[in-house]
Amino acid sequence: MSTPSTVILGTGSYAPDRILTNAELSKTVDTSDEWIRTRSGIRERRIAAAGEKTSDMGVQAARRALEDARLTAADIDLVIVATFTPDLPMPSTACIIQQKLGLPTTAACFDLCAACTGFVYALDTACAMIASGRYRHALVIGAEKLSSIVDWKDRTTCVLFGDGAGAVVIGPSPDAGRGLLGTRLGTLGDTVDLLCIPGGGSNAPATPASIAAGDHFLKMKGKEVFKLAVRAMDEAARDILEQHHLRADQISLVIPHQANLRIIEAISQYLELPMDRFFVNVDRYGNTSAASIPLALDEARRSGRIKAGDLNLLVAFGAGLTYGSALIRW
Ligand SMILES: CC(C)(COP(=O)(O)OP(=O)(O)OC[C@H]1O[C@@H](n2cnc3c(N)ncnc32)[C@H](O)[C@@H]1OP(=O)(O)O)[C@@H](O)C(=O)NCCC(=O)NCCS
Repeated sequence: MSTPSTVILGTGSYAPDRILTNAELSKTVDTSDEWIRTRSGIRERRIAAAGEKTSDMGVQAARRALEDARLTAADIDLVIVATFTPDLPMPSTACIIQQKLGLPTTAACFDLCAACTGFVYALDTACAMIASGRYRHALVIGAEKLSSIVDWKDRTTCVLFGDGAGAVVIGPSPDAGRGLLGTRLGTLGDTVDLLCIPGGGSNAPATPASIAAGDHFLKMKGKEVFKLAVRAMDEAARDILEQHHLRADQISLVIPHQANLRIIEAISQYLELPMDRFFVNVDRYGNTSAASIPLALDEARRSGRIKAGDLNLLVAFGAGLTYGSALIRW
Protein backbone atom coordinates (compact mmCIF):
# COMPACT_ATOMS: atom_id res chain seq x y z
CA MET A 1 0.00 0.00 0.00
CA SER A 2 1.41 3.40 -0.95
CA THR A 3 1.77 6.35 1.41
CA PRO A 4 -0.67 9.08 0.38
CA SER A 5 1.65 11.77 -0.81
CA THR A 6 0.42 12.96 -4.19
CA VAL A 7 -2.70 14.86 -5.11
CA ILE A 8 -4.59 15.85 -8.27
CA LEU A 9 -4.24 19.63 -8.57
CA GLY A 10 -6.23 20.10 -11.78
CA THR A 11 -8.12 18.25 -14.51
CA GLY A 12 -8.88 18.98 -18.15
CA SER A 13 -10.35 17.26 -21.17
CA TYR A 14 -10.95 17.72 -24.84
CA ALA A 15 -13.18 16.07 -27.43
CA PRO A 16 -13.14 16.89 -31.14
CA ASP A 17 -16.15 18.82 -32.51
CA ARG A 18 -17.19 16.22 -35.05
CA ILE A 19 -19.98 14.00 -33.70
CA LEU A 20 -20.56 10.68 -35.45
CA THR A 21 -23.99 9.30 -34.55
CA ASN A 22 -25.15 5.69 -34.68
CA ALA A 23 -27.62 6.65 -37.40
CA GLU A 24 -24.78 7.95 -39.57
CA LEU A 25 -22.71 4.81 -38.96
CA SER A 26 -25.61 2.62 -40.00
CA LYS A 27 -25.35 4.17 -43.47
CA THR A 28 -21.80 2.86 -43.94
CA VAL A 29 -21.85 -0.53 -42.12
CA ASP A 30 -24.58 -3.11 -41.55
CA THR A 31 -25.70 -1.98 -38.10
CA SER A 32 -28.43 0.06 -36.45
CA ASP A 33 -28.82 2.65 -33.72
CA GLU A 34 -30.91 0.13 -31.79
CA TRP A 35 -28.22 -2.62 -31.93
CA ILE A 36 -25.42 -0.28 -30.84
CA ARG A 37 -27.44 1.30 -28.04
CA THR A 38 -28.76 -1.93 -26.57
CA ARG A 39 -25.41 -3.81 -26.78
CA SER A 40 -23.11 -0.99 -25.70
CA GLY A 41 -25.05 2.07 -24.48
CA ILE A 42 -23.25 4.21 -27.08
CA ARG A 43 -25.27 6.85 -28.97
CA GLU A 44 -22.48 8.84 -30.59
CA ARG A 45 -18.71 9.32 -30.56
CA ARG A 46 -16.29 12.13 -31.48
CA ILE A 47 -13.96 11.90 -34.45
CA ALA A 48 -10.76 13.95 -34.79
CA ALA A 49 -10.56 16.34 -37.73
CA ALA A 50 -8.31 15.52 -40.66
CA GLY A 51 -4.81 16.43 -39.53
CA GLU A 52 -5.81 16.58 -35.86
CA LYS A 53 -3.32 14.39 -34.03
CA THR A 54 -3.29 12.60 -30.68
CA SER A 55 -0.79 15.22 -29.46
CA ASP A 56 -3.13 18.07 -30.47
CA MET A 57 -5.94 16.59 -28.38
CA GLY A 58 -3.55 15.91 -25.49
CA VAL A 59 -2.31 19.51 -25.60
CA GLN A 60 -5.86 20.89 -25.36
CA ALA A 61 -6.67 18.69 -22.37
CA ALA A 62 -3.32 19.50 -20.72
CA ARG A 63 -3.81 23.27 -21.13
CA ARG A 64 -7.18 23.03 -19.36
CA ALA A 65 -5.70 20.91 -16.57
CA LEU A 66 -2.84 23.40 -16.06
CA GLU A 67 -5.28 26.30 -15.94
CA ASP A 68 -7.45 24.40 -13.44
CA ALA A 69 -4.36 23.73 -11.29
CA ARG A 70 -3.28 27.40 -11.60
CA LEU A 71 0.12 26.29 -12.77
CA THR A 72 2.08 27.13 -15.88
CA ALA A 73 4.14 25.09 -18.31
CA ALA A 74 7.29 26.14 -16.42
CA ASP A 75 6.09 24.25 -13.32
CA ILE A 76 5.96 20.85 -15.05
CA ASP A 77 8.94 18.50 -14.81
CA LEU A 78 7.30 15.21 -15.82
CA VAL A 79 4.91 14.25 -18.64
CA ILE A 80 3.46 10.80 -19.12
CA VAL A 81 1.13 10.22 -22.05
CA ALA A 82 -0.97 7.07 -21.93
CA THR A 83 -1.81 6.12 -25.50
CA PHE A 84 -1.68 3.32 -28.01
CA THR A 85 -2.35 5.68 -30.92
CA PRO A 86 0.77 7.89 -30.71
CA ASP A 87 1.40 10.48 -33.43
CA LEU A 88 4.44 8.43 -34.49
CA PRO A 89 5.88 5.03 -33.44
CA MET A 90 8.76 7.15 -32.18
CA PRO A 91 9.59 9.56 -30.69
CA SER A 92 6.91 9.53 -28.04
CA THR A 93 3.85 11.76 -28.16
CA ALA A 94 4.94 13.15 -24.76
CA CYS A 95 7.99 14.73 -26.50
CA ILE A 96 5.75 16.33 -29.13
CA ILE A 97 3.45 17.64 -26.39
CA GLN A 98 6.46 19.02 -24.49
CA GLN A 99 7.37 21.10 -27.53
CA LYS A 100 3.79 22.24 -28.24
CA LEU A 101 3.21 23.33 -24.63
CA GLY A 102 6.67 24.92 -24.31
CA LEU A 103 7.55 22.83 -21.26
CA PRO A 104 11.05 23.07 -19.79
CA THR A 105 13.73 20.95 -21.47
CA THR A 106 14.44 19.54 -18.01
CA ALA A 107 11.04 17.79 -18.03
CA ALA A 108 11.13 13.99 -18.36
CA CYS A 109 8.68 12.97 -21.11
CA PHE A 110 7.57 9.50 -22.15
CA ASP A 111 4.59 7.49 -23.36
CA LEU A 112 3.12 4.53 -21.57
CA CYS A 113 1.11 1.83 -23.30
CA ALA A 114 -1.36 -0.18 -21.24
CA ALA A 115 -4.24 0.33 -23.71
CA CYS A 116 -7.53 1.25 -21.98
CA THR A 117 -5.92 0.87 -18.52
CA GLY A 118 -3.19 3.29 -19.60
CA PHE A 119 -4.35 6.25 -17.55
CA VAL A 120 -4.50 4.28 -14.29
CA TYR A 121 -1.01 2.86 -14.97
CA ALA A 122 0.31 6.33 -15.86
CA LEU A 123 -1.24 7.90 -12.77
CA ASP A 124 0.37 5.28 -10.55
CA THR A 125 3.74 5.75 -12.27
CA ALA A 126 3.65 9.55 -12.02
CA CYS A 127 2.55 9.45 -8.37
CA ALA A 128 5.40 7.08 -7.52
CA MET A 129 7.88 9.37 -9.29
CA ILE A 130 6.58 12.41 -7.41
CA ALA A 131 6.51 10.51 -4.12
CA SER A 132 10.21 9.75 -4.71
CA GLY A 133 10.85 13.47 -4.30
CA ARG A 134 12.73 13.69 -7.60
CA TYR A 135 9.83 15.32 -9.52
CA ARG A 136 7.47 18.06 -8.40
CA HIS A 137 4.60 18.48 -10.86
CA ALA A 138 3.48 15.96 -13.47
CA LEU A 139 1.09 16.12 -16.38
CA VAL A 140 -0.59 12.76 -16.84
CA ILE A 141 -2.44 12.66 -20.14
CA GLY A 142 -4.63 10.01 -21.75
CA ALA A 143 -5.11 10.77 -25.44
CA GLU A 144 -6.29 8.59 -28.28
CA LYS A 145 -7.11 8.90 -31.96
CA LEU A 146 -8.80 5.52 -32.23
CA SER A 147 -10.47 6.53 -35.50
CA SER A 148 -7.01 6.01 -37.06
CA ILE A 149 -6.72 2.31 -36.10
CA VAL A 150 -10.33 1.19 -36.39
CA ASP A 151 -11.45 -0.71 -39.48
CA TRP A 152 -14.44 1.33 -40.58
CA LYS A 153 -15.72 -1.69 -42.52
CA ASP A 154 -15.76 -3.96 -39.42
CA ARG A 155 -19.09 -3.47 -37.69
CA THR A 156 -18.02 -5.57 -34.70
CA THR A 157 -15.45 -2.95 -33.66
CA CYS A 158 -15.96 0.38 -35.44
CA VAL A 159 -19.18 1.20 -33.62
CA LEU A 160 -17.50 1.07 -30.21
CA PHE A 161 -14.62 3.55 -30.34
CA GLY A 162 -14.04 7.31 -30.45
CA ASP A 163 -11.37 10.03 -30.14
CA GLY A 164 -10.55 12.35 -27.24
CA ALA A 165 -8.19 13.30 -24.45
CA GLY A 166 -8.11 13.93 -20.72
CA ALA A 167 -5.36 15.17 -18.42
CA VAL A 168 -4.55 15.74 -14.79
CA VAL A 169 -1.82 17.72 -13.07
CA ILE A 170 -0.45 16.06 -9.96
CA GLY A 171 1.85 17.27 -7.27
CA PRO A 172 2.93 16.54 -3.70
CA SER A 173 0.07 16.42 -1.21
CA PRO A 174 0.13 18.87 1.70
CA ASP A 175 -2.21 16.50 3.58
CA ALA A 176 -1.43 12.81 4.05
CA GLY A 177 -5.14 11.90 4.04
CA ARG A 178 -5.80 13.34 0.58
CA GLY A 179 -4.73 12.35 -2.92
CA LEU A 180 -3.96 8.98 -4.43
CA LEU A 181 -4.48 6.52 -1.59
CA GLY A 182 -3.41 3.45 -3.53
CA THR A 183 -3.63 1.41 -6.71
CA ARG A 184 -4.08 -2.22 -7.67
CA LEU A 185 -2.72 -3.04 -11.12
CA GLY A 186 -2.73 -6.37 -12.92
CA THR A 187 -2.16 -8.15 -16.23
CA LEU A 188 -3.53 -11.27 -17.94
CA GLY A 189 -0.79 -11.63 -20.55
CA ASP A 190 -2.01 -14.99 -21.84
CA THR A 191 -4.89 -13.26 -23.60
CA VAL A 192 -2.99 -10.97 -25.99
CA ASP A 193 -4.84 -12.26 -29.06
CA LEU A 194 -8.28 -11.31 -27.70
CA LEU A 195 -7.67 -7.62 -28.36
CA CYS A 196 -4.71 -6.50 -30.45
CA ILE A 197 -3.36 -4.84 -33.56
CA PRO A 198 -1.55 -7.76 -35.21
CA GLY A 199 0.42 -5.86 -37.88
CA GLY A 200 2.87 -2.97 -37.96
CA GLY A 201 5.02 -3.92 -34.97
CA SER A 202 8.44 -5.59 -35.08
CA ASN A 203 6.75 -8.99 -35.09
CA ALA A 204 5.05 -8.25 -38.40
CA PRO A 205 6.34 -5.03 -40.00
CA ALA A 206 3.93 -3.46 -42.46
CA THR A 207 4.04 -4.84 -45.99
CA PRO A 208 1.67 -4.17 -48.91
CA ALA A 209 0.12 -7.60 -48.20
CA SER A 210 -0.37 -6.94 -44.46
CA ILE A 211 -1.94 -3.57 -45.20
CA ALA A 212 -4.24 -5.10 -47.81
CA ALA A 213 -5.27 -7.71 -45.21
CA GLY A 214 -6.05 -4.94 -42.68
CA ASP A 215 -3.54 -6.26 -40.10
CA HIS A 216 -2.88 -2.70 -38.90
CA PHE A 217 -6.46 -2.39 -37.63
CA LEU A 218 -7.68 -3.25 -34.13
CA LYS A 219 -9.05 -6.83 -33.83
CA MET A 220 -11.22 -7.97 -30.96
CA LYS A 221 -13.05 -11.04 -29.74
CA GLY A 222 -15.80 -9.02 -28.09
CA LYS A 223 -17.63 -11.70 -26.12
CA GLU A 224 -14.48 -13.08 -24.45
CA VAL A 225 -13.22 -9.57 -23.70
CA PHE A 226 -16.56 -8.69 -22.14
CA LYS A 227 -16.44 -11.58 -19.66
CA LEU A 228 -12.83 -10.95 -18.67
CA ALA A 229 -13.45 -7.21 -18.37
CA VAL A 230 -16.22 -7.72 -15.84
CA ARG A 231 -14.23 -10.29 -13.84
CA ALA A 232 -11.00 -8.28 -13.77
CA MET A 233 -12.62 -4.93 -13.00
CA ASP A 234 -14.65 -6.49 -10.20
CA GLU A 235 -11.49 -8.07 -8.75
CA ALA A 236 -9.50 -4.83 -9.03
CA ALA A 237 -12.29 -2.89 -7.30
CA ARG A 238 -12.80 -5.45 -4.51
CA ASP A 239 -9.09 -5.86 -3.83
CA ILE A 240 -8.40 -2.17 -3.42
CA LEU A 241 -11.41 -1.69 -1.16
CA GLU A 242 -10.26 -4.60 0.97
CA GLN A 243 -6.67 -3.31 1.11
CA HIS A 244 -7.97 0.00 2.47
CA HIS A 245 -10.59 -1.55 4.79
CA LEU A 246 -13.39 0.19 2.92
CA ARG A 247 -16.90 -0.87 1.90
CA ALA A 248 -18.18 -0.15 -1.60
CA ASP A 249 -20.86 2.17 -0.21
CA GLN A 250 -18.14 4.47 1.14
CA ILE A 251 -17.22 5.37 -2.45
CA SER A 252 -19.09 8.50 -3.47
CA LEU A 253 -18.42 8.06 -7.19
CA VAL A 254 -16.85 5.33 -9.32
CA ILE A 255 -15.19 6.53 -12.52
CA PRO A 256 -15.04 3.36 -14.59
CA HIS A 257 -13.42 2.90 -17.97
CA GLN A 258 -16.15 3.75 -20.47
CA ALA A 259 -16.16 0.76 -22.81
CA ASN A 260 -19.72 -0.50 -22.59
CA LEU A 261 -22.68 0.46 -20.40
CA ARG A 262 -23.44 -3.24 -19.80
CA ILE A 263 -19.95 -3.78 -18.36
CA ILE A 264 -20.48 -0.82 -15.99
CA GLU A 265 -23.92 -2.17 -15.01
CA ALA A 266 -22.43 -5.59 -14.27
CA ILE A 267 -19.78 -4.01 -11.99
CA SER A 268 -22.53 -2.03 -10.26
CA GLN A 269 -24.40 -5.28 -9.57
CA TYR A 270 -21.32 -7.19 -8.41
CA LEU A 271 -20.30 -4.40 -6.03
CA GLU A 272 -23.93 -3.89 -4.96
CA LEU A 273 -23.48 -0.20 -5.57
CA PRO A 274 -26.30 1.60 -7.44
CA MET A 275 -25.70 3.01 -10.91
CA ASP A 276 -26.10 6.58 -9.61
CA ARG A 277 -22.69 6.10 -7.94
CA PHE A 278 -21.11 5.46 -11.36
CA PHE A 279 -20.13 8.25 -13.71
CA VAL A 280 -21.22 7.38 -17.25
CA ASN A 281 -20.49 9.26 -20.48
CA VAL A 282 -19.96 6.29 -22.81
CA ASP A 283 -23.23 7.26 -24.51
CA ARG A 284 -21.59 10.46 -25.83
CA TYR A 285 -18.00 9.38 -26.50
CA GLY A 286 -17.90 5.60 -26.94
CA ASN A 287 -14.70 3.94 -25.82
CA THR A 288 -11.82 6.44 -25.96
CA SER A 289 -9.36 3.97 -24.37
CA ALA A 290 -6.69 5.71 -22.26
CA ALA A 291 -8.59 9.00 -22.59
CA SER A 292 -11.81 7.62 -21.14
CA ILE A 293 -11.13 7.86 -17.39
CA PRO A 294 -9.48 11.31 -17.36
CA LEU A 295 -12.19 12.64 -19.68
CA ALA A 296 -14.88 11.25 -17.37
CA LEU A 297 -13.05 12.49 -14.27
CA ASP A 298 -12.88 16.01 -15.66
CA GLU A 299 -16.56 16.00 -16.66
CA ALA A 300 -17.52 14.65 -13.23
CA ARG A 301 -15.57 17.41 -11.47
CA ARG A 302 -16.79 20.23 -13.68
CA SER A 303 -20.42 19.09 -13.35
CA GLY A 304 -20.15 19.19 -9.54
CA ARG A 305 -20.24 15.44 -8.94
CA ILE A 306 -16.93 15.50 -7.04
CA LYS A 307 -16.46 17.60 -3.92
CA ALA A 308 -13.71 18.10 -1.35
CA GLY A 309 -13.45 15.07 0.92
CA ASP A 310 -15.10 12.68 -1.60
CA LEU A 311 -13.68 9.23 -2.18
CA ASN A 312 -13.51 8.11 -5.82
CA LEU A 313 -12.67 4.74 -7.29
CA LEU A 314 -11.16 4.54 -10.77
CA VAL A 315 -11.35 1.11 -12.39
CA ALA A 316 -10.26 0.07 -15.85
CA PHE A 317 -9.58 -2.80 -18.19
CA GLY A 318 -7.89 -2.99 -21.58
CA ALA A 319 -5.83 -4.87 -24.13
CA GLY A 320 -2.93 -6.81 -22.70
CA LEU A 321 -5.08 -7.71 -21.04
CA THR A 322 -4.32 -5.09 -18.38
CA TYR A 323 -6.56 -4.00 -15.56
CA GLY A 324 -6.34 -1.74 -12.54
CA SER A 325 -7.99 0.41 -9.93
CA ALA A 326 -7.08 3.55 -7.99
CA LEU A 327 -8.55 5.24 -4.91
CA ILE A 328 -8.57 9.02 -4.71
CA ARG A 329 -9.57 11.18 -1.72
CA TRP A 330 -10.28 14.80 -2.77
C1 LIG B 1 -18.75 -6.10 -28.87
C2 LIG B 1 -20.00 -6.34 -28.04
C3 LIG B 1 -20.77 -5.04 -27.92
C4 LIG B 1 -20.88 -7.34 -28.79
O1 LIG B 1 -22.03 -7.62 -28.05
P1 LIG B 1 -22.54 -9.13 -27.92
O2 LIG B 1 -23.83 -9.12 -27.21
O3 LIG B 1 -21.40 -9.91 -27.31
O4 LIG B 1 -22.78 -9.50 -29.41
P2 LIG B 1 -22.19 -10.72 -30.23
O5 LIG B 1 -20.72 -10.54 -30.42
O6 LIG B 1 -22.69 -11.98 -29.59
O7 LIG B 1 -22.89 -10.53 -31.60
C5 LIG B 1 -24.25 -10.81 -31.74
C6 LIG B 1 -24.59 -10.71 -33.22
O8 LIG B 1 -24.56 -9.33 -33.60
C7 LIG B 1 -23.74 -9.19 -34.76
N1 LIG B 1 -23.10 -7.88 -34.70
C8 LIG B 1 -21.84 -7.58 -34.26
N2 LIG B 1 -21.64 -6.26 -34.37
C9 LIG B 1 -22.77 -5.73 -34.86
C10 LIG B 1 -23.17 -4.43 -35.17
N3 LIG B 1 -22.36 -3.36 -34.99
N4 LIG B 1 -24.42 -4.24 -35.64
C11 LIG B 1 -25.25 -5.26 -35.81
N5 LIG B 1 -24.94 -6.53 -35.55
C12 LIG B 1 -23.70 -6.76 -35.07
C13 LIG B 1 -22.76 -10.31 -34.69
O9 LIG B 1 -22.26 -10.58 -35.98
C14 LIG B 1 -23.63 -11.43 -34.14
O10 LIG B 1 -24.37 -11.97 -35.20
P3 LIG B 1 -24.60 -13.56 -35.29
O11 LIG B 1 -25.33 -13.90 -34.03
O12 LIG B 1 -25.39 -13.70 -36.54
O13 LIG B 1 -23.22 -14.14 -35.34
C15 LIG B 1 -19.68 -6.91 -26.65
O14 LIG B 1 -19.22 -8.23 -26.76
C16 LIG B 1 -18.64 -6.09 -25.95
O15 LIG B 1 -18.88 -4.95 -25.61
N6 LIG B 1 -17.48 -6.66 -25.64
C17 LIG B 1 -16.44 -5.99 -24.94
C18 LIG B 1 -15.75 -5.07 -25.88
C19 LIG B 1 -14.92 -4.05 -25.18
O16 LIG B 1 -15.38 -3.38 -24.29
N7 LIG B 1 -13.67 -3.91 -25.61
C20 LIG B 1 -12.77 -2.95 -25.14
C21 LIG B 1 -12.22 -3.34 -23.81
S1 LIG B 1 -11.23 -2.09 -23.20
